[in-house]
Amino acid sequence: MEIYQSLQNWSQDTYIKAYKFAAHAHQGQKVPGTEISYIMHLSFVSMEVIAALNVEQEYDGNLALQCAILHDTIEDTNTTFEQIKTEFDEAVANGVLALTKDESLAKHLQMADSLRRIKEQPPEIWMVKLADRISNLQAPPHYWTQDKITQYREEAIEIYEALKDASSFLASRLAKKIEDYKAFIE
Ligand code: NI
Repeated sequence: MEIYQSLQNWSQDTYIKAYKFAAHAHQGQKVPGTEISYIMHLSFVSMEVIAALNVEQEYDGNLALQCAILHDTIEDTNTTFEQIKTEFDEAVANGVLALTKDESLAKHLQMADSLRRIKEQPPEIWMVKLADRISNLQAPPHYWTQDKITQYREEAIEIYEALKDASSFLASRLAKKIEDYKAFIE
């Protein structure tokens, strides 16, 4: 039997462990405006990261993928920083925390604050934020106003400008999504 020596820089077992943790944490949550399980979003974000890792092999794929899968656990579930640190490691917990909005701040300050904290993290964490917004630039929920949609696109440009240097692969994919998103603005 031949052992395939790939250039893959992440492990399926690490992925599965993080995915199970996230699936439990987000249990019962739905993609906003739909009846679809929330974890579809985590599948999409991690898929975008895997696509980037295929061509940008200098990155720590396990760090990027664990943070991709866990990125909303502190923000949207009862999961704590300490739990992630214990179950995974400190780098993953720090990454997820940086990807978490600080809700004690006024809403209009939250994105700039989050981007500032992400930029203090390794590029793998920047990649997750790029992948997250790529995944979210699909058809907006039916109840969003034109103002909200326009603002969401502007925020995406802000994310692109702040984080594009981490991954030219994800940056160019996000740029394309930002362009396509114009179709939702009347
Ligand atoms: Ni997300």
